Amino acid sequence: MTETFTAMVIDAVDGKPKGSFQELSISSLPDYDVLVEIAYSTLNYKDGLAVSGKGRIARRMPMVGGIDIAGTVVESRSPDWQPGDKIIVNGWGLSETEWGGYGRYQRVKPEWLIRLPDAFSLQQAMAIGTAGYTAALCVDALEKWGTMRPGHGEVLVTGAAGGVGSVAIALLAALGHTVTASTGRPETHDYLAALGASGFIDRTALSEKGGPLQKERWIGGVDSVGSTTLVNALAQTVRGGAIAACGLAGGADLPGTVLPHILRSVALIGVDSVGAPIVQRLSAWARLARDLDTAKLDSMTTVEPMSNLPQLSEDILAGRIRGRIVIDVAR
Ligand SMILES: NC(=O)c1ccc[n+]([C@@H]2O[C@H](COP(=O)([O-])OP(=O)(O)OC[C@H]3O[C@@H](n4cnc5c(N)ncnc54)[C@H](OP(=O)(O)O)[C@@H]3O)[C@@H](O)[C@H]2O)c1
Repeated sequence: MTETFTAMVIDAVDGKPKGSFQELSISSLPDYDVLVEIAYSTLNYKDGLAVSGKGRIARRMPMVGGIDIAGTVVESRSPDWQPGDKIIVNGWGLSETEWGGYGRYQRVKPEWLIRLPDAFSLQQAMAIGTAGYTAALCVDALEKWGTMRPGHGEVLVTGAAGGVGSVAIALLAALGHTVTASTGRPETHDYLAALGASGFIDRTALSEKGGPLQKERWIGGVDSVGSTTLVNALAQTVRGGAIAACGLAGGADLPGTVLPHILRSVALIGVDSVGAPIVQRLSAWARLARDLDTAKLDSMTTVEPMSNLPQLSEDILAGRIRGRIVIDVAR
């Protein structure tokens, strides 16, 4: 075990947060019960905000970035985890209030860990990462709402070519749904069709202000865009349908009316992956292990060295990333 390693650390530069590579030692890590040797982390939209300093993600500094971890337990003071166990951590405040996955080692709380499902390698688990696990939480939430039945209409996925969108399409298609992908990148249509999308709408069709109640079209949806896009999705949802909303790639506002909710019983289901209780996490990962085609997962995945994080962070904020980026923390 090497005593020092390189990590992506968010620190204050001229009073503003900014990521840079720094050398850390294992003895400098938080005094939590499980030491993990990290194999891979991921790049999510939130990581882009944190590393670039364009969003105030880190609430204390210095902060090790990276909201996801996949690796192997090296030391454990918890009876629940043994050296050699392969584990995943998603969220729990990593990169916000707790040191995260952009480094070779991290100490974490035992209750944050999930055992790596047999269906996935460590690399595939990070190809899923927070974005994919959130997509699974969204599909779980729509199923729990209970009105969306395969073969009974179209399901909308916005931000389709992004991380959440890509995995949501693959999961919904695996359930037999007719999935319509909203994207601003027509060049991704073949990619999205291979994941399971059968229809496309340009994202500008949803991002312009529309009426409070529009023609009913969606039996359900997964939205990672927010703002006017989410408002239009709700206004176009059939009576009794639901949209699971998890993101704000298009804005954090919600400039709509209550009419879809009070006149059509449409539900807006909020999904938060960071603080989701363990029972929801296990359900989401079980769904991924059961329904996510690993060939499709591999087709949406690019592995990048950690040294490329500064540029990749700019790319994800500019909407230039397709699918999922796995970060190899050893390079
Ligand atoms: N609630 C949670 O726990 C949770 C968890 C994970 C992610 N999120 C949020 O979900 C969102 C997506 O995350 P991600 O990791 O999938 O990010 P991503 O890979 O960057 O995907 C976002 C996608 O949104 C679309 N988009 C980007 N800018 C847009 C704009 N101005 N207007 C309309 N669409 C736009 C793009 O899709 P097209 O190119 O296909 O148009 C882009 O690929 C982010 O806001 C993230 O913070 C929330």
